[in-house]
Amino acid sequence: MNPPSHVAIIMDGNGRWGIRKKNSRKFGHKEGLKTVEKIIEASIKKKIKYLTLFVFSTENWKRPSNEINYLFKLLKIHIDKEIKNLQKKDIKIKIIGNINPFPKKLKSKLRSIQHLTKQNKKIQINMALNYGSREEIVSTINFLKKKKIPINEKNINNNLYTKNIPEPDIIIRTGNTNRISNFLIWQSIYSEIFFVKKMWPEFNENDYNKIINKFSRISRNFGGLSD
Ligand code: IPE
Ligand code: IPE
Ligand code: MG
Repeated sequence: MNPPSHVAIIMDGNGRWGIRKKNSRKFGHKEGLKTVEKIIEASIKKKIKYLTLFVFSTENWKRPSNEINYLFKLLKIHIDKEIKNLQKKDIKIKIIGNINPFPKKLKSKLRSIQHLTKQNKKIQINMALNYGSREEIVSTINFLKKKKIPINEKNINNNLYTKNIPEPDIIIRTGNTNRISNFLIWQSIYSEIFFVKKMWPEFNENDYNKIINKFSRISRNFGGLSD
């Protein structure tokens, strides 16, 4: 058995699911948050140390402002609601991505939960917000150049948003779409990727556990030979 230490998820399909159920993409986003809660609990049960959630991509700014604002509002309300629970459950929140362009209040809330939960130990949730792998790699290389630090794999790794986080063992994408959409492209070279037909709001603990169990039976070679 080979349990994963880091699972990363592209939580896709909220909009389509919401349209199907109530003709509302917003409804899908709201229900999707319930799945987030379930999967955090399931990850704690499975003793997973890092869970990365793709919440908002650098390309999601292309959406109508009304949907973007709704997503920001949901996020803000959710943080307020969950802050006590995060402490109680010993959950550490880490932001990956460039949140500078976010609305001021949301930005300060996000920075404050990151700060408040800094010492928590049970699980680290990496929230990918205005995250895009290309932006991450380009800004890292520019930083290294500015500091006159040699550009090599180790120095790039140590300066990505994901520095100090092990590479994802598993990447899951729900929503019946088989692509990566600018998510963790540097970090995922040896991740096991699972594409799931279900939309994110209908994904459940059982679906998750099946993936974890399947992963634990995979022989990972990392370019070498299996033993
Ligand atoms: C949620 O799924 C992911 C976010 C970008 C917030 P979508 O909103 O992309 O849902 P679909 O893919 O349109 O169904
Ligand atoms: C990926 O989903 C981004 C998030 C889950 C936050 P998208 O819905 O933005 O991906 P595409 O546009 O279908 O590739
Ligand atoms: Mg989508």
